[in-house]
Amino acid sequence: MANHVWQDLESHHDQHADDLMTDLFASNPDRAKHYRIQLGPMLLDYSKNRINNETLDLLGRLACASSLKTSREAMFAGDLINNSEHRPALHTLLRTDSEHIPPQLSNEAAEVDAARGQIRRIAKQINERSWLGAIGQPITDIVHVGIGGSHLGPRMIDEALSFKRKSPVHIHYVANVDGHHLDDVLGTLNPGTTLVIVVSKSFSTMETKLNAESARHWLLSEIQEMDLDKHQIAITSNVQAAQRFGITPDNILPMWDWVGGRYSLWSAVGLPIAISNGADAFDELLDGANQMDQHFATAPWPKNMPLMMAMLGVWNHNFLGAETSAVLPYDHRLRLLPAHLQQLDMESNGKSVTREGSSVTTSTGPIIWGGEGTNGEHAFHQLIHQGTRLIPVDFILPLNADHEMPEHHHQLVSSCLSQSQALMQGQPAAQIDAEPQVVAHMVMPGNRPSNTLMIDRLTPSTLGMLVALYEHKVFCQAMIWKINPFDQWGVRLGKEIGAEIYDHLVHGTTLSSADPSTRALIQHFQNINGSV
Ligand code: F6P
Repeated sequence: MANHVWQDLESHHDQHADDLMTDLFASNPDRAKHYRIQLGPMLLDYSKNRINNETLDLLGRLACASSLKTSREAMFAGDLINNSEHRPALHTLLRTDSEHIPPQLSNEAAEVDAARGQIRRIAKQINERSWLGAIGQPITDIVHVGIGGSHLGPRMIDEALSFKRKSPVHIHYVANVDGHHLDDVLGTLNPGTTLVIVVSKSFSTMETKLNAESARHWLLSEIQEMDLDKHQIAITSNVQAAQRFGITPDNILPMWDWVGGRYSLWSAVGLPIAISNGADAFDELLDGANQMDQHFATAPWPKNMPLMMAMLGVWNHNFLGAETSAVLPYDHRLRLLPAHLQQLDMESNGKSVTREGSSVTTSTGPIIWGGEGTNGEHAFHQLIHQGTRLIPVDFILPLNADHEMPEHHHQLVSSCLSQSQALMQGQPAAQIDAEPQVVAHMVMPGNRPSNTLMIDRLTPSTLGMLVALYEHKVFCQAMIWKINPFDQWGVRLGKEIGAEIYDHLVHGTTLSSADPSTRALIQHFQNINGSV
């Protein structure tokens, strides 16, 4: 059935390949009224896509013909939908309300509740300055050590919400194993008033382990080993490894194997969010995400926002051939959102075998990238407007500003709206008044698709909705492509080879797997550095 619909979509695309969005608007002046979904404070306008009612009908049929509905129920119910790791994917349980806890998940829900209590207690102690360091002084700085999902999500949310921050502590996020970063951060801090939070689901990630060890060493330059409990917290599912590292059980907050790293910001991984913005703000973030979950679980096609974004993405990627997709938030506070969504989408859907292990028959996972507006307009928008590639864009625009400079906000809003209009309308040669030899360079092809997501105001709740929207979009696309979005086996091989090269460089062990090119590069490093 799904194959038939796929073929119907291909024929439909062939038939409408030359349709212009401007013509579609001319023939249906109400298009913008119909091609939109409103959910509370969030509006998705998808009218600037190369679609008509028949496209939507076919995309709806494709969604119906996939396992999407049953898989969605299975995800919320805690079934083992991460089949290559035999685990559920229960990030939605982290933010659900008591009414929606599936009875079979009451034990897990109780653990989530207990972890929320720990978050609240720690955030309060730090903010009320009653968490004292070894020298009897309150904590002034936190070094947050973690990478990937243990870094991007919490940092993005923290920075988005902490405009005019209330917290008396400054959080410094360190992810990269590159010592330039940790050295730079620690160089400005006092160990006696610094708390190190080590976030690692596995507690075995090379970057995090080494940064945590170096930070511990730095703490011990000023404080006694017996006082480390006042300066170290771990958030992990590997409690034993954290204890072996020297973190007291009271300071270890849980992660669970049923939450993937890139979906973990809703768990204790969100501790820095609660510290910077208060535990109430963290609760509001979870409530917003839960609102999106309930919408996703119940809204029918074509009124289901994550499903609509997913199917438009499938249309653009698989039928219009768009290899990448840009996320352009017009809000400085959301500048880290593209990086978070990049991990969320590309680590989830960067797969080429189906859930059953056979090769996929369609292209999966577009490249996700982006940056904050308006900065990107003066950097990479040229290629989106006039380059040879089709790059669908998600414009994200909070409608109310939280500063008192209306002129800035009105310029920002105008810029965002101008970009999607220019991408769609383009500019033909006939409209360009310039020297004849320059006209061809100035022609704007137009007909380039975009979504506009408007949010009444950026709050913890609307931000929760926004991130959950993309999580479910990614999930729906995975179901259409029949892949497992919850594993990430592809990151392993590089790590294993890295460990072998490290042992060779540092301990002189034999390199068994290195190819001639890599061997030559290693040799060059050794020629320049001598032996390490
Ligand atoms: O490299 C992949 C990965 O496992 C990500 O999925 C994860 O977010 C990151 O590494 C960090 O993992 P951990 O939280 O176990 O340190």
